[in-house]
Amino acid sequence: MGTEEKIVTWICRLTVITAFFLVGFIIGCFARPTHVNHGKTSKSFLRDFLDEMQAENIKQHLRKFTRLPHLAGSQQNLILAEQIRDEWMKFGLDTVHLVPYDVLLSYPNKTNPNYISIVDHVGNEIFNTSLAEPVPEGYEHVEDIVPPYNAFSAKGQPEGDLVYVNYGRTEDFFKLERDLGINCTGKIVIARYGKIFRGNKVKNSMLAGAKGIILYSDPADYCAEDVEPYPKGWNLPGGGVQRGNVLNLNGAGDPLTPGYPAKGLCLCCEI
Ligand SMILES: *[C@@H]1O[C@H](CO)[C@@H](O)[C@H](O)[C@H]1NC(C)=O
Ligand SMILES: *[C@@H]1O[C@H](CO)[C@@H](O)[C@H](O)[C@H]1NC(C)=O
Ligand SMILES: *[C@@H]1O[C@H](CO)[C@@H](O)[C@H](O)[C@H]1NC(C)=O
Repeated sequence: MGTEEKIVTWICRLTVITAFFLVGFIIGCFARPTHVNHGKTSKSFLRDFLDEMQAENIKQHLRKFTRLPHLAGSQQNLILAEQIRDEWMKFGLDTVHLVPYDVLLSYPNKTNPNYISIVDHVGNEIFNTSLAEPVPEGYEHVEDIVPPYNAFSAKGQPEGDLVYVNYGRTEDFFKLERDLGINCTGKIVIARYGKIFRGNKVKNSMLAGAKGIILYSDPADYCAEDVEPYPKGWNLPGGGVQRGNVLNLNGAGDPLTPGYPAKGLCLCCEI
């Protein structure tokens, strides 16, 4: 198992594209409160903005920007960035720049997909998890669906006994170690998603001495009552897998330049 890390010089990777989209529109509205912009006053901008804020429009924007896989650094993500630039210009912003950043990104190894297996006493893999999620209805022809992976997880193939650690919080490990007398050193822990950031689950497991972690989405946390699984409703389907990053950077961004813009600036050069 593992991921490939690559430094990719790409344009403007937007993860929360729709949020940015609206932010741009708001900036467009308020950046020049007194000036006339493309023949429109700020009042008419505000009116345009409020007109745009309709459930149906938001639905269509969301649909447009999430219809195809657009992993950070990918061609499709660039296409969406350019599309947002064009639409912002159309909305009346004077200039919109796409700015390249050099960010360390983590991708799954396409030729060597991740899976988990149960191994018998002679080392045969007697059960393997699937390599991909079942494709939902309507997505049969979509290419480049990102296989399940956790970005920046360490490469390796750990083997060990399993310990269930609930949400993998500090209090969960305290309970195991202090109340139940269970030692996680050398074990593979199973943690359910929820309550805390997945990177902290990984960190807590490492601190407890675990050599691997299996994260899963428990229906108790990810299936609302009387809601159909996606695509009919918004519940996570039975074969669906969360993806995300497991680094603990406390929101500091690029792992090579934590806390600084990933602009390739030489902040601590060798002399
Ligand atoms: C991806 O997996 C293949 C084996 O299937 C291996 O040869 C290659 O080195 C892996 N790539 C990386 C970047 O680890
Ligand atoms: C699991 O995958 C391994 C490696 O591809 C293979 O050798 C093994 O037979 C598989 N086990 C099952 C039960 O499919
Ligand atoms: C857990 O076991 C490891 C060795 O297997 C040991 O070093 C460690 O002290 C143990 N931790 C606790 C809390 O007992």
